[in-house]
Amino acid sequence: MIPIKSKEEIASMREACRVAATVLSRLREMVAPGVNTYDLDQAGREFMRELGAKSACHNYRTGRLVFPAHTCLSVNDEVVHGIGKLQRVLEDGDVISLDVVVEHDGFIGDNAATVAVGEVNGETARLLKVTEESLAAGIAVAREGKRVGDISSTVQRYVESRGFSVVRQFVGHGVGRSMHEEPQIPNFGRKGTGPKLRAGMTLAIEPMVNQGGSSVRVLPDGWTVVTEDGTPSAHFEHTVLITSGEPEILTQLKF
Ligand code: MF3
Ligand code: CO
Repeated sequence: MIPIKSKEEIASMREACRVAATVLSRLREMVAPGVNTYDLDQAGREFMRELGAKSACHNYRTGRLVFPAHTCLSVNDEVVHGIGKLQRVLEDGDVISLDVVVEHDGFIGDNAATVAVGEVNGETARLLKVTEESLAAGIAVAREGKRVGDISSTVQRYVESRGFSVVRQFVGHGVGRSMHEEPQIPNFGRKGTGPKLRAGMTLAIEPMVNQGGSSVRVLPDGWTVVTEDGTPSAHFEHTVLITSGEPEILTQLKF
């Protein structure tokens, strides 16, 4: 069952997502050579506190594992779920994926972006651009009456036609009172398949794109996902409300 949010629930989702987007935007501004990922994570924790929210990742459990950080910070070949570390100092030419999931007033806002540290090489810059554009392309088809597979196939075609690959082991998801609700939203699939989209659904669409092959593995810390071939990876994510018309990007800051 895919939850349909009421007017009141949508108002709360807007607030949670505005907080998530504000925290992500503040973290983006801090990214620079010489900054370590532990300090970024602690800053994220503090921004959430200031905005009346808390991390939905901190103490998140899967099986026997407990996620120890407040944000997911994934550098270069790290795809998702990286853990901030004092020793991980950002260098010119790195890329870092910042994934911010907050809980505010009982609702979750989820968004992510990959940021260049200083100057990155041309192919890595193109990876970031294509991944961000693939998210926009996926969102553009997230409309009432379409199906999840329409989002999935749009993202996949956008990415693969430009020479990159989509990660298959991790997928987007419905989001609301909990971080992961139905439906799953893979970044690969066939158009016209999967659950039908209805107004009032709130979905986290999140392409994870590798410069090389699509294979990934998990490091011995139990969390950090890396590319098997060591090539860089990028991740962009928005929480989106399905409406009777244009999709509303809840994690887009409006100025
Ligand atoms: N955006 C990620 C997701 O949708 C956040 C997970 S953070 C975790 O799964 F640490 F809790 F795993
Ligand atoms: Co997510």
